[in-house]
Amino acid sequence: MGSKPDERVPLILDCDPGHDDAVAILLAAADPAAELLAVTAVAGNQTVDKTSYNARRVLTLAGRKDVPVAAGFAGPLVGELATAEEVHGSTGLDGADLPEPALELDSRHGVDLIIETVLGASRPVVLVPTAPLTNVAVALRKEPRLKGRIARIVWMGGAAGEGNVTPAAEFNAFVDPEAAAMVFSAGIPLTMVGLDVTHQALLEEVDIAWIRALGAPVGTAVADLLDFYRGFHRRRYAFSGFPLHDACAVAEALRPGLVRTLPMAVEVETAGRWTRGRTVCDRWGVWEREPNVQVGVSIDRAAFMAYLRQILARYRRA
Ligand code: RIB
Ligand code: CA
Repeated sequence: MGSKPDERVPLILDCDPGHDDAVAILLAAADPAAELLAVTAVAGNQTVDKTSYNARRVLTLAGRKDVPVAAGFAGPLVGELATAEEVHGSTGLDGADLPEPALELDSRHGVDLIIETVLGASRPVVLVPTAPLTNVAVALRKEPRLKGRIARIVWMGGAAGEGNVTPAAEFNAFVDPEAAAMVFSAGIPLTMVGLDVTHQALLEEVDIAWIRALGAPVGTAVADLLDFYRGFHRRRYAFSGFPLHDACAVAEALRPGLVRTLPMAVEVETAGRWTRGRTVCDRWGVWEREPNVQVGVSIDRAAFMAYLRQILARYRRA
């Protein structure tokens, strides 16, 4: 009698923790539907030394020191790194007292950890980048065999509508538009979970309260992180809540269909003086070209919040 096939989703996270990346990692680490194979860090919200350190701290908090973590690129393919210190603070995870890492940094470069993990997986892997796409773009360029071994890419990034770091561009696309353009033209099934989606699934003060009620260490740490993270959004945006951008991408990867998408031809602007980093989404097919991206247009907020509660509750103080 053969063993039951593993129905978990084989997952690699490429991230730049970052408060919302931290929640994304906690979800992927605790969801029984996920087989979290590896976490790679890239420069984005903070420098790659900080994002890779933060990824290891969050996995330690999650009790998942079994998951390999490697540091990837320290900056974009072209130009200088722009971080988001005003959002995430000088550590990248300001606001909480997180544990020191219980796992060493993998000696491989993040690109090589992605390549070796995908090629070594028994099934096609779902790649969930929640950061600038520098690591992913170089991995796809360095190892063409990845194309047949990645089931789909679910990226938190981009926006069909307005941006958040310029009026035209969302942060992950803005930091490395050349990398994004390479991934968007790689021919791998790509779901873009952009700001159009993540701004429909805002958390409120009351959500921080139930997270805090989960108790130490995870509930307390996440609530402290979100109290800090909420402050930026209260100052910047008219809306009262705050978006957990990256958690939406993990939720879609593990609960496919949570995000409603439309197939569109999408180009990434790399030259525009005011528009560099814009994901230009052909919503009405005016280019008359084959779609290359499933663009997120809405999210079932109730289902997302139920998912968040269901999985974070697994960290309830024992
Ligand atoms: O624009 C939001 C995205 O940029 C999120 O992934 C956030 O963590 C930052 O990386
Ligand atoms: Ca991120």
